[in-house]
Amino acid sequence: MTSLAATVPVPAQADAAEGSRARDVAPAAAEEVVVLDYGGQYSQLIARRIRDCGVFSELLPHSVALQEVARRKPRAIVLSGGPASVYADGAPKLDRGLLELGVPVMGICYGMQLLVHELGGRVEQAEVGEFGRSELTVTEPGRLLAGMPREQTCWMSHRDTVFEPPPGFTALASSTASPVAAVEDTERNVYGIQFHPEVVHTPYGQQILTRFLTEIAGCERTWSAASIVEDQIARIRAQVGDRQVICGLSGGVDSSVAALLVHRAIGDQLTCVFVDHGLMRKDEGEQVVSAFRDTFGVPLVAVDAEQRFLSKLRGVTEPEAKRKAIGAEFIRVFEEQAAKLAGGGPEVDDCSETGGVPETGGASQADGVPVTGGASQADGVRFLVQGTLYSDVIESGGGTGAATIKSHHNVGGLPEDLQFELVEPLRALFKDEVRAVGAELGLPERLVWRQPFPGPGLAIRVVGGEATKERLDVLREADYILQEEIRRAGLYRELWQSFCVLPDVRTVGVQGDERTYGYVVVIRAVTSDDAMTADWARLPYDLLETIASRMINELREVNRVVLDITSKPPGTIEWE
Ligand code: XMP
Repeated sequence: MTSLAATVPVPAQADAAEGSRARDVAPAAAEEVVVLDYGGQYSQLIARRIRDCGVFSELLPHSVALQEVARRKPRAIVLSGGPASVYADGAPKLDRGLLELGVPVMGICYGMQLLVHELGGRVEQAEVGEFGRSELTVTEPGRLLAGMPREQTCWMSHRDTVFEPPPGFTALASSTASPVAAVEDTERNVYGIQFHPEVVHTPYGQQILTRFLTEIAGCERTWSAASIVEDQIARIRAQVGDRQVICGLSGGVDSSVAALLVHRAIGDQLTCVFVDHGLMRKDEGEQVVSAFRDTFGVPLVAVDAEQRFLSKLRGVTEPEAKRKAIGAEFIRVFEEQAAKLAGGGPEVDDCSETGGVPETGGASQADGVPVTGGASQADGVRFLVQGTLYSDVIESGGGTGAATIKSHHNVGGLPEDLQFELVEPLRALFKDEVRAVGAELGLPERLVWRQPFPGPGLAIRVVGGEATKERLDVLREADYILQEEIRRAGLYRELWQSFCVLPDVRTVGVQGDERTYGYVVVIRAVTSDDAMTADWARLPYDLLETIASRMINELREVNRVVLDITSKPPGTIEWE
């Protein structure tokens, strides 16, 4: 999901300011384990599992300079799996300097093969690969596998196989297809496992990781998502001082948690801007305003821009054109509000003494809800809060100086006189950690667990036609019924997303003795881990029946309800 906070365009130099040095995401006091990414599909998961053990971990590309690793003073280094063969041309190599840093090094899958190959063991392509569940026999527990059962299940995914450990190493385990499935050299403090401890299909995986981190690397298990709150508050204060900060709030969990953290740090120096484009779900706008303004007392400018967005959507039927129209209008509205807060508008002088946002003529300004407290025009606004997550940091180069804003977010650009420096308090966190921080900060459960919702909102769910007010209202009501029933059935958190789609078609029906000609509502509910792939959710028949009959009985315009049973791929989650 993309929060609106992440869609606000940022001037190019905000990223350039990162320079060539990696930006730290680690909390100041935390011990750190560095995971080097050799391209394996589970690399992120390794970092997450290490954090689950209570130790902060960062995922860096395998090509990162040795000094960058050393600068972090890691307590241990983990080499991830990867798709290459150690014999392939251009296969990622091991920087021997890593073994000289005086901390334990553990290779997983490709990481193990790389260590074994480099240190003089024998790695070869086996006749058969080993993919999926495998039975592991611990032949010599050693330091790494001490206390583990002799026989256990593990998860394998490799073709190259270790046949002999390097000199000085002890083979610890084997499986049917892997004569050497785990190794260690306690003198050199180097360890390797062929299987994947980070996946749930390796039942003792977490125990092995914990053992490596605590018994071998001597890490203290002090990291928790909550521990980052205090750290981030100190960082935000140091970065911002007494200057003003602006945050685009979407109601999504990322921007909500980012805003609350910043507010906790600097109070009314923060002003949030919530652009209600009229494409939200029922009551969602009110929930955001009530949570932030009323419960937390966060200075908030709520802009009712429904009419502006609807007029931009008039006659637009093509999906990408809808997205563009909405994106462009969002930027316009946000810019206007930012300019007002920064003192850029012509009305500024009139209102600067009050510290409120001027309510003056012009469509946009007339819609702005005045705030008290918060950023005053006289002070100007220098900082912009972004809900960037650690997965975005990894995607864009693992925090090694690469741009942090995905290119498709970095469109447009704010006016020259509005140069923002970024405040990114969630840069170190995975999504589940963000939710934990949100709960810690007292964010209502509804916002903490909100399913992803696309920036263009309901407009891309009125499909095959124009998103008119009438259609959006039908869709909003249908969606409300769906959400209510899904929550009542206790399924909301289990689903990645659940929503309705309203195709621009009508079908014939009969209600009472009358022929009807009404809308078809499509129910779309999917399970997923990351939206890259998704499966259609097997909702109980009874629940589907309740939802369908409520929609048809309560919504005059609807006379048919259908269920989308397409997975992704081949379908996408959204219809447009
Ligand atoms: P698809 O439809 O590509 O969606 O399977 C994957 C995830 O992305 C969300 N999505 C969007 N989010 N702006 C957004 O902020 C968009 O234009 C957009 N399109 C899709 C979708 O809800 C799903 O979670």
